[in-house]
Amino acid sequence: MGLRLDVLAVGNINVDMSFFMEGMPEPDDETFARDFAVFQGGSAANFAVGVARLGLRTGILGCVGADPLGREALRLLRKENVLTDSVRVSKRRRTGTVCVLVEEGGVRRMIAYRGANEELRLLVRREIPQAKFVQLCNVSREVLGAVLMRKGEDKVILDPGGGSKDFRIEDLRGVDLLFVNELECRNLTNADYERGSEILSEHVGTVVVKLGSRGAFMREGEESAYQEAFPVKVVDTTGAGDAFNAGFVAALCSGRSGNDCLLWGNGVAALKIRSKGARTGLPTLKDLATFLRERKS
Ligand code: RIB
Repeated sequence: MGLRLDVLAVGNINVDMSFFMEGMPEPDDETFARDFAVFQGGSAANFAVGVARLGLRTGILGCVGADPLGREALRLLRKENVLTDSVRVSKRRRTGTVCVLVEEGGVRRMIAYRGANEELRLLVRREIPQAKFVQLCNVSREVLGAVLMRKGEDKVILDPGGGSKDFRIEDLRGVDLLFVNELECRNLTNADYERGSEILSEHVGTVVVKLGSRGAFMREGEESAYQEAFPVKVVDTTGAGDAFNAGFVAALCSGRSGNDCLLWGNGVAALKIRSKGARTGLPTLKDLATFLRERKS
């Protein structure tokens, strides 16, 4: 694979079918969507594109189906400079597809067909490409366990996403950086995020709690930091967490302080949620610098 990667993203590669609507239909009823669009998605793929746009040498470990959606997903990842050599193309399962329902104000619900993503567990039992940071996005306990077992000098970062309900706190031992939102923090610790992050930091190096419109908080041992979110007009929150993670990891990779990592995370998330789709609006380093400069002055 040539030069060592800065970041390897591990997890889902999806296609998102997004419906923009005023409200949800009642049972047996029908509602009309104001808009519909097909976007590229999947938390690992979104994150990979986010960090690649910010200039990191990025690869992805995941699975797509041997179908037109899978071919297009790979083509667009390559176009974003994400190395896809480690993506498995499944002959048995179709590319993961997600129905995303976005309500006025940006709140979204998702129905996911996991398809080829199910085969990730087979992949991680084999070789995992070397990278400075291995970012696990919404993976199972089995995948986390396999990656931690092979851990070398790389730092392991986990965003358990919806999977947080299946993890036990002991499973996290060996994780260097953990991203959670408030609900996931509660699922893991049964406590609010301030107490929850204290409990989690007994098991992992750094804990970052994403607080949505209230910003983000991090704890590293006894130290903690907080940064407010940037107020922007919210159009679609799909992929906001992946965007935050990309900004945070890009700052971390360039050796910035914890406060800067939170700031970059909030900045990238703010730029994403102004547009429809999980990757639209993800900034280059230059776009991010301009946004942060404008907000500072
Ligand atoms: O994290 C956002 C992503 O979650 C969407 O793009 C969708 O594909 C789901 O996997």
